[in-house]
Amino acid sequence: MKTIQTINDLQNFLYSNKEKTIGLVPTMGYLHEGHLALLNRARKENDLVVSSIFVNPAQFGPNEDLDRYPRDIEHDTELAAKAGVDVLFVPTVNEMYPFESGITIHAGELSTKLCGESRPGHFDGVLKVITKLFHLVQPTKAYFGQKDAQQLAIIETFVNAYNFPVQIERVSTVREADGLAKSSRNVFLSEKERAESVNIYKAITIATETWRESKDIQEALAKGKAFIEQNTSGKIDYLEALAYPNLQADLNDAEQILFATAVFFENARLIDNIIVDVK
Ligand code: PAJ
Repeated sequence: MKTIQTINDLQNFLYSNKEKTIGLVPTMGYLHEGHLALLNRARKENDLVVSSIFVNPAQFGPNEDLDRYPRDIEHDTELAAKAGVDVLFVPTVNEMYPFESGITIHAGELSTKLCGESRPGHFDGVLKVITKLFHLVQPTKAYFGQKDAQQLAIIETFVNAYNFPVQIERVSTVREADGLAKSSRNVFLSEKERAESVNIYKAITIATETWRESKDIQEALAKGKAFIEQNTSGKIDYLEALAYPNLQADLNDAEQILFATAVFFENARLIDNIIVDVK
């Protein structure tokens, strides 16, 4: 595996591998088995696997956890090499954003809901870095986790709307044995919160099961919320059901429904979701 820090070196390497298919896995590092699932898929489906580790300041709000976002580049390098990554792209902030162009990308309506409501500008920042990575790497396929279902929906819509020549691949959420979705931010949970956090997944499971039985969305959401309130010390940011991937509130013609939640704990905001097929 080659670790590359500059755009120049990255492009030189890719230029000498022009004929190959490329799978791109963008990450912010502190790799866990969720990231590894993306890398494994990319390894199976492409000649070359490029993964990036970049804690992207553009997607963090002023009061968010940019400075304390967990980092461990040595361990990440080991895991990436084991997963068969060919190129680990680890740019500095200055390498990615050497000047302020004043030209911005707005994620628009899809970013006004769910996580976008409490994280204004977050998805604009995600699209900023993803656009740059797509242009730099020119991947055949790029891999994103369903864990961040809104991010995935926005990236798919962006790519379709603006004809980016890349195929977006969805990868299912990888969970701990007790059901908690794997996340780099889980390290911020206290022991008590870690024990409680399993109830986030249970709550959206209860919501989806209630919906399957009664087809009553309000009842399903109320039961899910009550479960989180009664079984965690966290504060619910949202627990909602939207059509997927267009994220519309009208579920009448939906083929898939996203049940998604975000919960604030003392030092971490955790998200999780389940997507159900409407038969
Ligand atoms: P990060 O949180 O590091 O996640 C990188 C990728 O791993 C994302 O596509 C995310 O959905 C996926 N992922 C994280 N946890 C997962 C899990 N438990 N199961 C399956 N996939 C999981 O998401 C980002 O970084 C950034 O916003 C990024 C896309 C890199 C842009 O900066």
